Amino acid sequence: MIQRTFSIIKPDATARNLEGKILAHIQDAGLNVVAMKKIRMTKEQAEGFYYVHKERPFFQSLVDFMTSGPVVCSVLEGENAIENYRAIMGATNPADAAEGTIRKEFAENIEANSVHGSDAPETAEYEIHYFFNNLEITG
Ligand code: CMP
Repeated sequence: MIQRTFSIIKPDATARNLEGKILAHIQDAGLNVVAMKKIRMTKEQAEGFYYVHKERPFFQSLVDFMTSGPVVCSVLEGENAIENYRAIMGATNPADAAEGTIRKEFAENIEANSVHGSDAPETAEYEIHYFFNNLEITG
């Protein structure tokens, strides 16, 4: 099933100029970039994006981190894109991430973990349209 997912290359990765290397992992996995932009999130944008985590102890620190520098937001399309992207990202905590995954290779710690990817079709839909309108997504 051809599906779309939402990706963020996080501030720890953009600070180290890793956008190209991370996008190479993504494209090598057969995921097509159908929309992309580099932005600096506002506090309000980051809080709204991560609202499902608002009661978690790491929420404020996460918002501070996500607004600490630019991020690259993109929409990825391909066969089972959501699961495929989660597989190549690796576990949230890089200490648990499998060899060859993006987080194993680049992430600094459980918070500064280089990438975000949607975890389910409903969250992908919410996250894609949080940052992109339909005119910005190529067919
Ligand atoms: P992400 O996949 O973007 O979803 C929530 C983010 O919160 C996660 O990646 C990490 O950047 C951050 N985070 C920080 N601490 C934790 C934690 N203990 N468990 C899960 N996510 C965490």
